[in-house]
Amino acid sequence: MLGKHVTDGVYGKEEPGRVAEAFEIGDFKPGVRAKARCDVMGVEPYSELDGMLVRRFLTPAHDQALKTLAFWMEQAGMTARRDPAGNLVGRYEGDTPNAPALLIGSHIDSVRNGGRYDGALGVMLGIDVVEALARAGRRPPFAIEVIAFGDEEGSRFPASMTCSRAVAGTVKPSVMEMTDGDGVSLAEAFAAFGLDPTRLEEAARKPGEVFAFLEAHIEQGPVLEAEGLALGVVTAIAAQKRLMVRFTGMAGHAGTTPMNLRKDPGPAAAEAILALERICSGGKDGLVGTVGRITALPGAFNVIPGAVEYSMDVRAEVAAIRDVAVEAVTAEIEAIAARRGLDVSVTLMQDLAASPCDPSLTALLEDAVAAIGQAPRRLPSGAGHDAMVIADLCPTAMLFIRCEGGISHNPREAVTEADCALAAQAMLGFVDRISTQFSLSSRTSAQREDPGPTRELGASGDPGSALRSARDDKL
Ligand code: GLV
Ligand code: MN
Ligand code: MN
Repeated sequence: MLGKHVTDGVYGKEEPGRVAEAFEIGDFKPGVRAKARCDVMGVEPYSELDGMLVRRFLTPAHDQALKTLAFWMEQAGMTARRDPAGNLVGRYEGDTPNAPALLIGSHIDSVRNGGRYDGALGVMLGIDVVEALARAGRRPPFAIEVIAFGDEEGSRFPASMTCSRAVAGTVKPSVMEMTDGDGVSLAEAFAAFGLDPTRLEEAARKPGEVFAFLEAHIEQGPVLEAEGLALGVVTAIAAQKRLMVRFTGMAGHAGTTPMNLRKDPGPAAAEAILALERICSGGKDGLVGTVGRITALPGAFNVIPGAVEYSMDVRAEVAAIRDVAVEAVTAEIEAIAARRGLDVSVTLMQDLAASPCDPSLTALLEDAVAAIGQAPRRLPSGAGHDAMVIADLCPTAMLFIRCEGGISHNPREAVTEADCALAAQAMLGFVDRISTQFSLSSRTSAQREDPGPTRELGASGDPGSALRSARDDKL
């Protein structure tokens, strides 16, 4: 017997094409509350600064956010713990204790002067989904864990996704040597946050503990809005590289050094940045290149800089296309430095592979979106997400939520309550569908191995294997 929640759906019987009734329990409206909670966390003490949202990894604002999130997770019926990488993990047991978990979540850090919903909305939606189940007295045949990853943006340290890489077991202890803009190492920041930097790798989840990951996230682009759609289903996340470029010349007096006798790295950097724009413009398959940070050193009106350093972020849906662009721009950078008599270094800081979402989970998510009367629009993601890293641990699915004007990484980021409510409903429908799949695959393995009761084998066997093997085939 699969259980009532599997056959009936969270909203009662679903009919194709019928829009689900808005789901409300008292004054709790899943999704609507998630948005409101993002708004709560848009200001101090959940932001490091007054007047703009900046919540970077391992700062007091991050700590405050985790304290409040833990409270909300417990209110929703979960137990909450901080893991050794600085993630917050809430666990809602399934109908059998210690069953493998469906992981739902996103990141709680932000960029500087960022929006309120990038990352945070996926965490809040996860909490709302669990609370909806708990208030309905329902437990799926697996556990649900809601995770707030600590560092997706990389806005404090140069590499991003440190926390999801730790969970996936793909982080290297050498990340502890990275330093932030104030020269604080990641190891020092861990210690200041009450975490042991030597235990980072203990955040890795063991095979079988987590069988699937669902991330809901604002689209951060204009496609859904342009097509009048609230939700989208992600097919794949683009490959990205982060690099640091440093041109080194000779610092000097801005008033006394004639133009032809300078070794000024500033104009070299300007030329090189234009080369990046040219190489990436009109590129196929979502090729984009961005210089988001430029530093001239020592940095004064009246000093020719001795060095100019800038970041390069290059992405494409296909890694080979991204890599050809990076090689072309690196060749131009070297030619510019040679022509101007400067030294230059190009350092790779991070290389994230493109990450296809799992086809079978994606089909379940599409089905859940269609069941609430929404067109299941498929689209790729140019933005990076924790899901691309968690794909090394388990199959992943991603739900996109329309955002106003496609604006993100900007305080003008906006979503509607109605869209967030639809997202929560689609996620609950996904939980129903994966419950069915989970029970069926448990039953299949039960028939193969032992004709004992489905529920027991669901907990002790490997019910996620059907989903994992779908991903293995693809890879
Ligand atoms: C995160 O927002 C990224 O795409 O870099
Ligand atoms: Mn972001
Ligand atoms: Mn994000």
